[in-house]
Amino acid sequence: MILWVTGGQGMLGKTVKQLCVEKGIPCIATSHSEADLTNPPVLLHLAERIQPTHIINCAAYTDVDGAEKNEEKAYAVNALGARNLALAAIKVGAKFIQISTDYVFDGFATAPYREEDQSSPINVYGKSKWEGEKQVLDAYPKACIIRTSWLFGAQGKNFISSVHNWLQDKEKIQVVADQCGRPTYVQDLAHAVLDLLDAEGIVHFANAGAISRYQLALDIREEMLKCGKLVRCIQIEPVASQQFPTPAKRPCYSVLATEKFTQITGKQPRPWKEAIGEYFEHVSAAS
Ligand SMILES: NC(=O)c1ccc[n+]([C@@H]2O[C@H](COP(=O)([O-])OP(=O)(O)OC[C@H]3O[C@@H](n4cnc5c(N)ncnc54)[C@H](OP(=O)(O)O)[C@@H]3O)[C@@H](O)[C@H]2O)c1
Repeated sequence: MILWVTGGQGMLGKTVKQLCVEKGIPCIATSHSEADLTNPPVLLHLAERIQPTHIINCAAYTDVDGAEKNEEKAYAVNALGARNLALAAIKVGAKFIQISTDYVFDGFATAPYREEDQSSPINVYGKSKWEGEKQVLDAYPKACIIRTSWLFGAQGKNFISSVHNWLQDKEKIQVVADQCGRPTYVQDLAHAVLDLLDAEGIVHFANAGAISRYQLALDIREEMLKCGKLVRCIQIEPVASQQFPTPAKRPCYSVLATEKFTQITGKQPRPWKEAIGEYFEHVSAAS
């Protein structure tokens, strides 16, 4: 087995690469400059040179607000780029795993989204990722699409790392209370990716525990205090998304159902709260 991971300098790509090193799985991780998804000849050349058994696409245009202005770029990477890589996988007989997002849903549901539920993204990033799913499955029907949500990890900027910093720096913060999802620790997602190497079709993976961003901030504060971390913030105020207008709309409710993941792997995603202590340890070790 040999894995080729694209987006190797991103939060997930780095984590998958590290996990492979720990597990002794041969893995080549390429950066944006080494393997640009918008450059099909380069992808084909690399696929022929690496001869991977599996290609895991962790590369993406992930700037949700930036995508509103850079629609063309978002589609070039997240839709056409994903297709380019899937075609390279076919050419060398490798399995293909594409990472996608909870933002393919509009957020109007009242129960967790299942894999077969209708997608209807409300921002350009979500639309480009959904188009990517369709392009990949059209080019390579046996590919696996792993949708995940609200990633956090020591290697990248994310909602939890931002809240962590605000709680250390500010006395009062405001956090939106009308967006609900499932936070996902990037290490847990990396394990899930390796568990799903031979899966086909769409599979959701997220840590257990649906929560609003406001409640998440309260819980992060509690966990930081438990871990003996400095917390300057004494007031966390819940606010509506309308009070924080952003270029891209976010779904109000993007909770993913993960029963299919459990059926395939026999594993239950652990609660994100269990992972957060580990996350704080990584952050402290890195700083
Ligand atoms: N982060 C989240 O909360 C979240 C939630 C749900 C789903 N996801 C999905 O999870 C996957 C991994 O996300 P992440 O948080 O690890 O993202 P990330 O940290 O932003 O990493 C993405 C990587 O892709 C690279 N990239 C961008 N354009 C590229 C191109 N044209 N060719 C090759 N590489 C390119 C970036 O390189 P440069 O920085 O050099 O451009 C970056 O290293 C993505 O598919 C994302 O859509 C993320």
